[in-house]
Formats: sequence, C-alpha cells, structure tokens
Amino acid sequence: MDAAEALSERTRRTVSLAPGADLPGFRAALRGLITEAVAPDAVAWTVADAPGLFPAIAEPREAAPLRLPRPVAALIPMVVQHRDPERYALLHALVWRVLNGERALCEVASDPLVHRLGLLRKAVARDLHKMHAFLRFRRIAGEPERFAAWFEPDHHILAQAAEFFVDRFRGLRWSILTPDGSVHWDGAELAFGPPGRRAEVPEGDGFEAGWLDYYESTFNPARTNLRAMKAEMPRKYWHNMPETAAIPALVRAAAGRTAQMIEREPVMSAKRDPAKAVAAMADQEPQTLDALNAVIRRADPLVPGATQAVLGEGPLGATLAFVGEQPGDQEDRQGRPFVGPAGMLLTRALEEAGIDRSAAYLTNAVKHFKFEERGKRRIHQKPTAGEVGHYRWWLDRELDLVGPKLVVALGATAVLALTGKQIPITRARGPFRFDRPNREGGGTRFQGFITVHPSYLLRLPDEAKAEAYAAFVDDLRRVAALGRELAA
Ligand code: URA
Repeated sequence: MDAAEALSERTRRTVSLAPGADLPGFRAALRGLITEAVAPDAVAWTVADAPGLFPAIAEPREAAPLRLPRPVAALIPMVVQHRDPERYALLHALVWRVLNGERALCEVASDPLVHRLGLLRKAVARDLHKMHAFLRFRRIAGEPERFAAWFEPDHHILAQAAEFFVDRFRGLRWSILTPDGSVHWDGAELAFGPPGRRAEVPEGDGFEAGWLDYYESTFNPARTNLRAMKAEMPRKYWHNMPETAAIPALVRAAAGRTAQMIEREPVMSAKRDPAKAVAAMADQEPQTLDALNAVIRRADPLVPGATQAVLGEGPLGATLAFVGEQPGDQEDRQGRPFVGPAGMLLTRALEEAGIDRSAAYLTNAVKHFKFEERGKRRIHQKPTAGEVGHYRWWLDRELDLVGPKLVVALGATAVLALTGKQIPITRARGPFRFDRPNREGGGTRFQGFITVHPSYLLRLPDEAKAEAYAAFVDDLRRVAALGRELAA
C-alpha cells in the first residue's frame, strides 16, 4: 500500500444503513457527506445485518437539503428499493457528479452510471407493478373483513406498495406478509412488522366467493399464450393466485361469447324529466368544483337511505374522466367512487391498460346509492332515467370544471347521462362524440368513449368473464392511446 492509499484508507468513511430501503437514512447520510465534500470513492456504504427490520427513521443531520434536478430526486426513492448492495454507492456517485458540474447527467443515457441506475429503477418499477397486479388477499377465517396476502417481491418495495393497497382497500383490514417484513392496515394506520411465512396466510379454501368471482373476472385469455403469460405473469407468482388453477376451464369456456354477452347489457327505461330537475337547480351556479361539491353534499338523495353523496375523485384538468352509474354499497360507506368490487375490477383493468387511476377523474352519473334492503344486505337498484336526469345538471358542471380531454362512459347509465339518449352499448361501443349542453344551454361536442360497466363483467357467468374482461382492457388501452393523442 503506498502513502496515498494508506491516507485514503485512514480517511475512508463507513456509512451503515438499516436493512431494506433506508431512504431517510440514505438522505441524511448523503446530505452530511456532500456538505463535508466527501467523494464517493472515500465512502463504504454498508447495510446493517439484521434481516427483517424495517427502515428505522434516521435522525436527519444538521445539513441543508440538497438541491437536486428533478430526475435525480425522482430516481433516488426508486433505486434505494433495489436489492443491489451497490445501490447507495451508485446514487452517491451520481449525486456527486451532478453537483460537481454535470447537472444534466441524467439526460446522458449512454453514460454507464446513468444506464445502470436506469436499469435498477426499471427493475423496481416492474416489481411494484407485479405486486400491485398479482398480490392476492385471502379472508382470515373467523375474522370478518380481515384479509391477508403472501408475496415475495424481488426488491425492498413493501413500504411503497403498501401505500397503493391502502389507497385501493382503505375500507378493509389487511396484512401483507413477505420474507423480508410485513405490513398491517387496520383501516386507519399502517404498521410494519417482522417477516411472515406463507403458511400464515390461509390457502384457497378460505376464499370468499365474491373475491374469487372478482379474480376470475380479471382473467385475461391473452395469457394462454404461454410465452406472453410467463413474460407478463412470471411463474413464481402463480402459487399465490387462485385463478391460475382455474385457467384451463376459463380458457375452454372463453371462445365466441362476446356478442352474446354484450347483448345482455341492460338498457335504461325511457321515462325521464331532466328539464324539471335542471330548472329546480338553475339558481345555483357554482364556479369551482369545491363549490359544486358543496351543493351536492347538501342535496337530499332522490331516494332515501344513502349514507352520503359520493363525489367525483381525481385531479382538476385530468386528461381522462370515467363516468360510472352510481355508488355501490362500499362507495356509500366510504364516500369514494369505485372502491367496491366493481371499482377493484376497474382499477385492475386500468392498470393493465397502462392508465394511472390516480391521474384520472372518476365519477358517477348518479351521486347517491340506491338500494333495497334484503335482510342485512343492501342490494343495488338501478337508477331510473328520471333520477339520472336529475343528477345530469351536476355531472355536466362537474365535467366543465374538471375539463378532461376524453370522457369515458362506463355502461348504459353513463351514456344516458352524457347524451340524454338511450343507446345500446353494443351499437356505440368505442370512440364517440358526446353532445352535451354547456352552461349557456348551447351544445358542446366533446370526445368520448363508450364501453361496458365493470359490474356488468362481474355479473357475467363464469365462462364468459375472461373474454369480456379482455375486451374491456382492450377498450381501456384504446382510451389510453386516445388520451395521449388528445393531450399531445
Ligand atoms: N359502480 C359505479 O358505477 N360507480 C361506483 O362508484 C361503484 C360501482
């Protein structure tokens, strides 16, 4: 060892981070190192050897936050989730170079460091996608409304994935067990815990029929192409997925049913009186979505019983808006659209079609749940055309204020609400231009797309679900492409 090497050996720092994705620890250490101008080759990044612990929140050092270009700031939380032991050192090297004269480094795709970090980011994104799509909850026997799932992620993605499942299944209590750690949601808070074992999650027999229906309805016959199936849904996930056992039967039954299924899509009855409803509300003309929502929150349901009005959800200016029929039982309880079984199916299909649900605006033609009580169950009742007409005033203004580029009608009720006409889905499925009165009562034309409602897919006989679901996802792929065109 020469003198320079000996000196660098003496001045070498070791940073020890918590196992898993220790983002707070990494950020704090990085800030300190950059502030003290410690170069990457003088640092050994290590991970404490205590498997199963989840990121302890490290005390931030007294160093100022780093001012990093957005692509670098976005890359860090993704890459720290990768299992590559060099991930922290690579990120340190990137940040060091960016802050020392190479501010646009992330744009240099040919740079070996940028390339490698890009691969790590991609691997984590893919792992997250797989977990969102292939994780399966099972009911825990004897504990109503409590579910557990087993999953083996490739990377340290549990904490980030948990946020996704909170968003999707906020109203349920669930646990996700993995070999590295577990996470538990009690309806209000997330708690991380030690690793689980697959044996702790009930096997298939514990399934509630509704969940199984839902899973079967999401089966995509494209996956019967073995190569495509393995690429999209690697074999390692199959043992956790009940529908994989059902694949042969689903495939046998899938062929040639589309037309027949679509014919069964119900069509609304003809009675409606939108003009009266519009006139009744014409004195209220809210100028913002919040003001509009306040009106509907105060409004009494047309039919008694609903817990609350279920408002639309999503960002103002969203490129895509999806219009459903009316809230269901879960939506009524939680006050959010599309969170029950049909909503879960829609979420799954959106994801498969490459549409980010959180970037879209989701709403309903009718804002209150209409149901009939049968014992303890509340059975959905289809809104009449008059009820749809009553709420149309609100939907029109809502869409005006959100300003989507493309409005997707999910099912016949949404089509009726958006066009004022009863148009069979079979005839109109696909791109459509909706005529819609604007605020002055004139006609505005805007881009639309008509497809089936996800609850229609849930109601289909088992043997017809797979094909109908695949067609639905295909529609959503077309919606995604149209949305991209219109937003460009
Ligand atoms: N069906 C709908 O049309 N909307 C929802 O929010 C849920 C189910």
